Amino acid sequence: MSWTLAITGKGGVGKSTLAALAVRWLVERQRGPVLAVDADPNTSLDALLGVKAGCTVGGVREEAKRLAQNDSAGGMGKQELLDLKTQEALIEADGFDLIAMGRPEGPGCYCYANNALRAVLGRLAAHYASVVIDNEAGLENLSRRTVQKTDWLVFVAEPSLRGLTTARKLYDLALEMKIEAAAFGVVVNRVRGGTGASPVVARARELFAGTPVQCLGGLPEDAELLAHSETAEPIMSLSSSNPVWHEAGEMLRRMTGKEAPVPVFPNP
Ligand SMILES: Nc1ncnc2c1ncn2[C@@H]1O[C@H](COP(=O)(O)OP(=O)(O)O)[C@@H](O)[C@H]1O
Ligand SMILES: [Mg+2]
Repeated sequence: MSWTLAITGKGGVGKSTLAALAVRWLVERQRGPVLAVDADPNTSLDALLGVKAGCTVGGVREEAKRLAQNDSAGGMGKQELLDLKTQEALIEADGFDLIAMGRPEGPGCYCYANNALRAVLGRLAAHYASVVIDNEAGLENLSRRTVQKTDWLVFVAEPSLRGLTTARKLYDLALEMKIEAAAFGVVVNRVRGGTGASPVVARARELFAGTPVQCLGGLPEDAELLAHSETAEPIMSLSSSNPVWHEAGEMLRRMTGKEAPVPVFPNP
């Protein structure tokens, strides 16, 4: 059974960055094979991982919709055909594979298509030891449960009271939408002046007190990461002494639960 990390949060907070860091960490720690799922229609995980996404699963969804209206699939079973289409959208890279979900659906009923897609992705994910899902800003993908089981649902927040409040609202919405995960976490990104005793991280802890959301800590604002994004350098080439890489690694170590227990912060 694969270990699944899903990352969500408002646009521009650092979801894709954290997703790419997680993929690199899992690959380097040989927690592979790793499946990276770009569930944001504004595909960016491919560039961060240094690969180029071509076709997306969007086509598979359309195909499933067509099949729902059409009994015959040219002799091939529906499931087989959808699995084949999904394989075509899969990009194989060094230590991980990437699949991009593509644009949201157009008009019409996609119930069958979404159910089919969930089944296809479930079958695909079963081949991987770890799955990292970079979500769009909303929770639509998660509510459709395109991937069956999530071990960790992580909310990335901006380092401001407004940013933290937005993350908290997103968590409340996730609860309302009955989005399930074995564990929930919040990560404060772009923290200035050291993440250890950062007041904004302490604030995040307070804001999520009384919820199952664990404050996983902060990721520092980092000049190397910024320079990398300006030149579209992949995360893989970030120096191994980079502080964001280091902090993200500590978070992942705790989340995967293999090397250290996850700290449970007391709820006052
Ligand atoms: N800790 C950080 N330090 C500096 N720049 C960062 C940091 N985290 C993210 N960024 C930059 O912020 C921008 C948005 O990040 P991204 O991961 O694409 O956000 P999202 O996926 O949530 O839209 C990118 O240019 C990224 O390089
Ligand atoms: Mg993104």
